[in-house]
Amino acid sequence: MTTQDKPGARAVKIPRPRIAVFAATSLDGHIARPDGGLDWLEAANARLPPGEDCGFRAFLDGADLLAMGRASFEAVLGLGRWPYEGKPVEVLSRQALVLPRALRESVSVVAGEPAELAARWAAQGLRRVYLDGGQTVQRFLAAGLVDEITLTIVPVLLGAGRPLFGALPRELALVPLETRSYGFGFVQLRYAVQPG
Ligand SMILES: NC(=O)c1ccc[n+]([C@@H]2O[C@H](COP(=O)([O-])OP(=O)(O)OC[C@H]3O[C@@H](n4cnc5c(N)ncnc54)[C@H](OP(=O)(O)O)[C@@H]3O)[C@@H](O)[C@H]2O)c1
Repeated sequence: MTTQDKPGARAVKIPRPRIAVFAATSLDGHIARPDGGLDWLEAANARLPPGEDCGFRAFLDGADLLAMGRASFEAVLGLGRWPYEGKPVEVLSRQALVLPRALRESVSVVAGEPAELAARWAAQGLRRVYLDGGQTVQRFLAAGLVDEITLTIVPVLLGAGRPLFGALPRELALVPLETRSYGFGFVQLRYAVQPG
């Protein structure tokens, strides 16, 4: 008999972590070229003043877990250096991925519907999850499971590419939290997603 089964016992709802997105897009809403290319973003980042990361490190440090789509993971592997040293990472995939040996301590591969994953994270006591990858973000948004979006807009129109946002079963209202305009042309918007 579980606590919930006992007569008069009330179910204890475990709060789920805050799920937050931090992504850079072109002005026309792409996170990558159609083939996944990020050269436009790397070129823009190369022009940033030394030490400027538009708040990325602080955002990463504030997350208990980075959950990323398989395509994003593969793109990061292609960089040849792992930027998330020390951070627990879950790669979302329905495939059996073979992880590089050096990452086997901190990276695991998981699959599930967004609600199942969020419930698992809640049960693990996580407080804040950084969610990454276009399709991945779209699925969590559609499930009403994204709480915060930080979008850094890079001044370029790609014309085609992989989108951060897609179809939704219902409209989501956003509460503006912060807007930053950088002298080098980036604009950063931070929103809370209004609970439905
Ligand atoms: N500009 C930026 O800030 C930024 C940020 C992130 C990524 N990117 C770029 O965006 C591209 C990747 O984004 P993307 O939209 O193509 O894909 P993605 O979201 O990174 O990955 C999609 C894959 O994730 C897996 N997946 C997602 N949700 C899942 C779930 N609930 N359960 C199991 N598996 C799940 C599936 O993998 P399987 O097919 O293996 O099952 C799916 O094919 C890369 O080029 C990356 O570099 C850019």
